[in-house]
Amino acid sequence: MSRKVTLSVIKADVGGLAGHHIVHPDLLATATRVLAEGRERGVIEDFYVTHVGDDLELIMTHYKGVDNSEVHGLAWEAFVEATKVAKSLGLYGAGQDLLADSFSGNVRGLGPGVAEMEFIERPSEPVVVFMADKTEPGAFNLPFYRIFADPFNTAGLVIDPKLHHGFRFEVMDLYESLVYELNTPEEAYDLLALIGSPYRYTVKRVYRRLDGEIAAVVSSERLSLIAGRYVGKDDPVAIVRAQAGFPALGEILEPFATPHLVAGWMRGSFVGPLMPVSQRDAKTTRFDGPPRIIALGFNIKDGKLVGPSDLFDDPAFDEARRTANIIADYMRRHGPFMPHRLGPEEMEYTTLPEVLKKLSGRARKLEEKKSAPQSKEAHE
Ligand code: F6R
Ligand code: MG
Ligand code: MG
Repeated sequence: MSRKVTLSVIKADVGGLAGHHIVHPDLLATATRVLAEGRERGVIEDFYVTHVGDDLELIMTHYKGVDNSEVHGLAWEAFVEATKVAKSLGLYGAGQDLLADSFSGNVRGLGPGVAEMEFIERPSEPVVVFMADKTEPGAFNLPFYRIFADPFNTAGLVIDPKLHHGFRFEVMDLYESLVYELNTPEEAYDLLALIGSPYRYTVKRVYRRLDGEIAAVVSSERLSLIAGRYVGKDDPVAIVRAQAGFPALGEILEPFATPHLVAGWMRGSFVGPLMPVSQRDAKTTRFDGPPRIIALGFNIKDGKLVGPSDLFDDPAFDEARRTANIIADYMRRHGPFMPHRLGPEEMEYTTLPEVLKKLSGRARKLEEKKSAPQSKEAHE
């Protein structure tokens, strides 16, 4: 079949049980009902509903392309219906990510996060869907560099002729709304100069240079910039295609064996380790975290989702979780101090303007006692 299939992952936080930590099962059931009706009507081919932390995640396949208004409209309907249930149960933050009262064309800019890609299905089409809570899109910069550009992670870059040409990274400047395209390995240092600042520059898409095939996509609708004020870190999702000319499944998962530091955690204002967890442990408890990520592996066959496999539900990631707990302990000991706490411009919550206002009358000029200038010659 040479029709292009689209995989769309659309997510929103429309209410948490007992705080910002998990999605109530009735919300999952409601979203499932809406998407099942959408599948009946032929809007989508197939779907899988899940959650990570307080984020409701809709994984959908269809033949309508990216940014399709019917598919986005269906996702919006699922979030609106789930919000009604969240309100009726008194869940916390009901409807918090739905920033508009009505749907208009697609969900971009309305609050939900989106990662979508369209491709011709291979005879076997393995994909990994990553979903994270209490962090932001830049959290994928480091692992994606390692997956697609670091031969110490991805052996295929060195020994597989199909990967040996390298990958092209599309990088977004979230502050200026600019997009850069950089080829690895030649421009690896330029790429790192940008994406080493993950709060501003985020990897949006990755393409295989051999034939321009799309390899990966990350959601990057930053809520703070959309809403014009800080309304929450945009807990990100990403899709990566695996095997046969793309990185192998194990090369895609390998970077998560090192729980790197990401922005988010408590009140979107702290730095902490990204802990890879099973679906079962996808709840954010300790200090509203630590930031967590799940990975679900699917095959797409004739537009249908086969699976998933809960990829971090594996003792191979036990050490990563233990390391993340040790890092979390260490970081927490810094309390409200940077670099555990984010810098003032990145914090989701701050009292600094009020504190400075309150203290303004009490501030006095700093009088520095300067030593009397001495002539240079006196030293010579
Ligand atoms: C972070 C997050 C939580 C909340 C925190 C305070 O993205 O969602 O850490 O910021 O629980 O929430 P409020 O202010 O709603 O009590
Ligand atoms: Mg939340
Ligand atoms: Mg969340």
